[in-house]
Amino acid sequence: MTANEDLFTPIHKALRSMIYDVGGRLQSVDFVDKAAANAVLEDLQHEFSNAVSATCALCLLHAHAGSEESHVFPSMQSIDPALIRMLIDDHHEITRRLGALTKMADELSTVDAPPRRIELGARLNREANEFFAFYLAHMNKEEVTIVPAMKEHFTDDQMRTMQAKIMGAMPPERLSGYLRWMLPSLTLAELTGMMAGVRHGAPPEFLKFVAGIGEANVDPARWTAVRERVGF
Ligand SMILES: [Fe+2]
Repeated sequence: MTANEDLFTPIHKALRSMIYDVGGRLQSVDFVDKAAANAVLEDLQHEFSNAVSATCALCLLHAHAGSEESHVFPSMQSIDPALIRMLIDDHHEITRRLGALTKMADELSTVDAPPRRIELGARLNREANEFFAFYLAHMNKEEVTIVPAMKEHFTDDQMRTMQAKIMGAMPPERLSGYLRWMLPSLTLAELTGMMAGVRHGAPPEFLKFVAGIGEANVDPARWTAVRERVGF
């Protein structure tokens, strides 16, 4: 029997929302205005050495690939090694492009002359667009390859155990960074299902943690509907 759990699509919705948001701000920001530009650049300056506290958009995009490699790909390695090889090759390309993007953002933050800032800003925007396009296509690819393959080979319980391990291994700050984007990105039915899972399958402190993030980030009418349906 085919399973229903999907370890990828909900978190990918969060990452897509993050990309749409930072992409929107990046393409319209006035690079001459240092304070405004720095607020966007902070989201693009990935700190590779600071994996614990980093919640910048690129940090979360990078950390996500790491979670897949540590907690999900090994379970599929012997089932479809060629697929896992292809996805890991994509991850290496993501890391390479991230490095280039971070370098550009670092360079721009040290420049004062307005014409040069505008020039570097336009270049950074083009590079970021390339990166986002690659990342989006990579997620699309995972959703039509590894997602159906895992539904064939694992039970819902097995996938829920993997999910719990992924979240358990994450610093709370990073987990809240993802949830802040994920909760408002899900459909009403998905959000209701997720919160019901948390309510019935996780300790009360965890429900409180997730509910606090939902309260602050999900549209109030929608959040009220979820609370009523799930009963918390
Ligand atoms: Fe991936």
